[in-house]
Amino acid sequence: MLVPGSASQGLAAALAAETGREIAAVEYHRFPDGETKVEVPDPGESAVVVGSTVSDRAHVELLQLQDAVREAGAGDVTTVLPYMGYARQDRAFEPGEPVSARAVARAISTGTDRVLTVDPHEPAVCDYFDVPASGLSGAGQLADGLPPNLDEPLFLAPDEGGVAVAAAVRDAYGVGEVDYFEKTRLSGDAVDIEPSDAAVAGRDIVVADDIVATGSTMSEAITVLSDRDAAGVSVVCVHGLFVGNARTKLARAGVDRIVATDTIEGPASEVSVAPVVAAAL
Ligand code: R5P
Repeated sequence: MLVPGSASQGLAAALAAETGREIAAVEYHRFPDGETKVEVPDPGESAVVVGSTVSDRAHVELLQLQDAVREAGAGDVTTVLPYMGYARQDRAFEPGEPVSARAVARAISTGTDRVLTVDPHEPAVCDYFDVPASGLSGAGQLADGLPPNLDEPLFLAPDEGGVAVAAAVRDAYGVGEVDYFEKTRLSGDAVDIEPSDAAVAGRDIVVADDIVATGSTMSEAITVLSDRDAAGVSVVCVHGLFVGNARTKLARAGVDRIVATDTIEGPASEVSVAPVVAAAL
């Protein structure tokens, strides 16, 4: 049975439709002191826990769901992390820092037989799990959220590391060029973007990235493109975190369209990664 975390109920429903699996009855509780508790009375023999760890609370809830399904008799547990929180701290960047991705991966490994995650920031984070773990690509699904008649589309990544996502969207869309900006991160919520040499005037531009968090990267890219007379600018991302005023930053920069998947469920979740996850279950 599919066992949804509270932040991934829509994706679990989409997975049920894709796979024909039932969704287990799950109750989510919160104690007055803020601690969470879940109840999964009947997860079946084979349980698929589906939970994006979008917050510390969601992390704890996921561990509780894993424990609850074992306690209720599940013999086989698969954990689907549509979005894996803390994956971007995949090494100690400064002395004294933790490898947070490894710490959470170890904890998640204790309650499951295998892990599937979608577009982790670095595929190598899968090696931090103590059970078999795979990174799936949901980027191609983003093409379904774009209109079919984009004019000479150019798929741009905000930095070289994002080219694989931009190329996956282009490949699924079926036509267009791929290029990237040079990005320098100045602080946690400030970046500098240098334009690529690609011609953008009069073209439909699709800026593609794995994650939109504060929106600084994307809004900076959109501003550069607007200054260079792009015909239209779409933002597509697998994981739409949209922290704080990210949506406002994008709107003020002049974005025409935002498309995200349902790894993080929100107003921009125009497409689903359910077909990709279903194929791997
Ligand atoms: C970083 O390399 C990622 O691919 C994203 O570009 C980054 O996480 C986006 O963060 P923000 O929206 O805060 O600029």
